[in-house]
Amino acid sequence: MQDFFEILRHRHSIHRFQQDWPVEREKLMAVLEAACAAPSAGDLQSYRIVVVEEAALIQRLQEASGGQEAVGTAPLALVFCTNQTRAEKTFGERGRKLFALQDATIATAYAQLAASASGLGSLWVGMFESEAVHAGLKLPHEYEPIAILCLGYPAERPQLTSRRKLKEMVLYATTDGVGSEAG
Ligand SMILES: Cc1cc2nc3c(=O)[nH]c(=O)nc-3n(C[C@H](O)[C@H](O)[C@H](O)COP(=O)(O)O)c2cc1C
Repeated sequence: MQDFFEILRHRHSIHRFQQDWPVEREKLMAVLEAACAAPSAGDLQSYRIVVVEEAALIQRLQEASGGQEAVGTAPLALVFCTNQTRAEKTFGERGRKLFALQDATIATAYAQLAASASGLGSLWVGMFESEAVHAGLKLPHEYEPIAILCLGYPAERPQLTSRRKLKEMVLYATTDGVGSEAG
């Protein structure tokens, strides 16, 4: 079992997957369960996860994503969709505009980390035409796709990316306002 912080540090996007090496059912279920363990506004879980495995549907996702090669090589993709109607019933405008999106996003993040912990490679794809994914998967109208998580065994070493320094990212609040130094 890898340390949680090791998983965070070592996860990097994969842009080429082993097409003939499918993701085991138990790993898929572990990833889905992790996604659904994420917090959500009012515990409503205002999102749906669509499992895509059929090659013809993966191809539709690739086309909807501007032909991104990585998508076409993935043996499995999870499409995370908001359910704004569900969030709106309890939280009104804020639920529809914000919470449904946050719920779906954090579920995607949990799934991606669970995939890493399971030894899978992943790629979060956000550049796609929503309407094309919607139509390609024949989604019910109330679901809006917001992230495609490609999963599979890597067929490449990931490119190591860097992060901005903490001091560029973090502001500390004081009664005088926010600044980059701890108070
Ligand atoms: C909201 C979001 C959208 C993204 N969309 C794409 C995408 O469409 N195509 C792609 O190749 N990577 C996409 N990525 C992956 C990022 O490019 C990648 O996470 C970032 O460059 C950092 O690299 P790392 O994941 O290897 O640490 C997306 C990531 C996020 C969080």
